Amino acid sequence: MHILLVGNGGREHALLRRLRSDLPDGTFSVTRPNAGMTDVDAVDVAPTDVDALVAWALHARPDLVMIGPEAPLADGLADRLRAEDLAVFGPSRAAARIESSKAFAKALMEEAGVPTAAYRAFRRAEDAKAYIRAEGAPIVVKASGLAAGKGAIVCSSVEDALGAVDTIMADGAFGDAGDEIVVEAFMEGEELSIFGVADGRDVVLLRAAQDHKRVGEGDTGPNTGGMGAYAPVSIATPDVIEEARERVFLPTLRALAERDSAFRGLLYAGLMRTDEGLKVVEFNARFGDPETQVVLPLLESSLVELLTAAATGSVAGIEPTWRNAAAVTTVVASGGYPGSYAKGKTIDLSDVPEGEDVHVYHAGTARNADGELITAGGRVLAVTAIAPTFAQAADRSRDAAATVRFEDAQFRRDIGWRERERTP
Ligand code: GLY
Repeated sequence: MHILLVGNGGREHALLRRLRSDLPDGTFSVTRPNAGMTDVDAVDVAPTDVDALVAWALHARPDLVMIGPEAPLADGLADRLRAEDLAVFGPSRAAARIESSKAFAKALMEEAGVPTAAYRAFRRAEDAKAYIRAEGAPIVVKASGLAAGKGAIVCSSVEDALGAVDTIMADGAFGDAGDEIVVEAFMEGEELSIFGVADGRDVVLLRAAQDHKRVGEGDTGPNTGGMGAYAPVSIATPDVIEEARERVFLPTLRALAERDSAFRGLLYAGLMRTDEGLKVVEFNARFGDPETQVVLPLLESSLVELLTAAATGSVAGIEPTWRNAAAVTTVVASGGYPGSYAKGKTIDLSDVPEGEDVHVYHAGTARNADGELITAGGRVLAVTAIAPTFAQAADRSRDAAATVRFEDAQFRRDIGWRERERTP
């Protein structure tokens, strides 16, 4: 089997590793692979270059195209490939609006009765500001478009929220993504990430995970793409998962199908567990990063079978099996991230205890002209440990992350701190 994997971050490295364990003799083509994605056919096309990817796929005719990141989905890569009769795991452009337009997602949820925070969408800053003054704080201001996970600003005062509107709309902090904004009520609770593999109608839910978006320990400092994650999460009981399926996933998939936007791919629900039950914080149209680096290592049954069923048929009746274990990943990032940071720092992994249950997923890595491993991004590596208990996995992940060496490396030592308090 020949699979084209679009994307080259930590999420795609985790997908590659898991798919390869299903298909030891498979052929994997990857767009501009990072330095950890070895033994692959390197496709020298940017993951966002839709025209060039379609041309490549028409020539190579892979058996399955797995689209990792959101940008090519929002640009219609899946539609273009399906029009050429290729099997694609990833939603159409119309369905991917659930991530690429927060305003669209909120309107869809409202219509479908999916629980989420009260909101209004605005294209004019002065209207948004009037609404904020009327509602008060705390309140959340979000760029409606794609903003690399950084477009939501939680504001504890009205003054901060008015400033957030200016940051997004007047200063253009997120470019066109901020032409429209969503202002929504602040929700109190604990977040869960749940992935659903969807075939347009049915869905298979994977193990729940929790990630840490803030850069600093104790969940402080600015938002990042994610500094670490763990799975499973003990508060995601079977009842909570069932609630997510019945009240969030199935009505959302139905509402999309009714709009001729059936969703075939990975529907990621970012959920808040509130006193009133689960509420949707946001949807994404692809696997989460770094949650994928903890969910997939726990999957025992075939990922290829699941993705192929969603891409080409039905997932009804597929029941994945899971390792009876916990996984924790710690992201090792460049100093300065999520602000500006240097690239090109030499990475030494010689002391990392990589093995069966410690995986080093590469994200922002490359090789220099001398073949040395160097940093090439903000999030550089994700170090995942799998162990019988959460505490063992967390300790192993943290200790292994500490053995990664490059100048100004930073990582959080407290990934999963809530779970540690619950399950010491
Ligand atoms: N971990 C958050 C995301 O993938 O958007």
